[in-house]
Amino acid sequence: MIIAIDGPAAAGKGTLARRLATKYGLALLDTGLLYRAVGVKVVGAGGDPEDAATATKVAQELEPRDLEAETLRSDEAAQAASKVSAIPGVRAALLQFQRDFAHHPPEGKNGTVLDGRDIGTVVCPDALAKLFVTASTEVRAHRRFKELQERELDAIYARVLEDMKERDARDSGRDVAPLEPAEDAFVLDTSDMDADAAFAAALDFVASKDRQDRVRLEPRRKHRE
Ligand code: CDP
Repeated sequence: MIIAIDGPAAAGKGTLARRLATKYGLALLDTGLLYRAVGVKVVGAGGDPEDAATATKVAQELEPRDLEAETLRSDEAAQAASKVSAIPGVRAALLQFQRDFAHHPPEGKNGTVLDGRDIGTVVCPDALAKLFVTASTEVRAHRRFKELQERELDAIYARVLEDMKERDARDSGRDVAPLEPAEDAFVLDTSDMDADAAFAAALDFVASKDRQDRVRLEPRRKHRE
């Protein structure tokens, strides 16, 4: 089972992905971390995250320990990620790793769930269930602001809102793998939902896809028996 979750910043993709992973016994990959790691490494070395040659080289040489950097969750990392992620060479360098992860879950797992911007459209167009999780810009900015406060980081709401608008515009407007729902994605607007309601709606959708898939595979199974 592969579940693809896409959507703009702070829409609740991460929480949903974690809950679905637990429910179905799936391995989880937060693909945003890969782009954040590339952005942080480029900036950390004094480079420009919009410089294609530098960022592509960093993406090609990314190592597992780069995903453990403490600064990956900061808003500066998010902005750098959004810049490097518009570079085709960076996306190409990270694509195979994501596909391998999706199709080869670790021993004992029933499948995988990936969250990002282009999972349903580019990385796993064959995913069993595709969810596009969204919410109004103001609701998302409030969620991110609260999250920063809970982590005791300095945050100014107006700044968080501006950063989010800037990042969403860049992610949606880029030429390569822009943020958009796949044609067969279930669009889940969580503006008026709490995490439990969003999880329940997502679960209904995934369960219906799972049932359809079993019905589709049943004649073949019977034939084999
Ligand atoms: O957590 P949040 O939704 O704010 O961001 P994230 O998922 O960690 O992604 C950070 C940035 O990486 C995004 O703004 C995108 O520019 C980029 N990204 C992408 O281009 N493709 C993905 N599959 C995941 C992230």
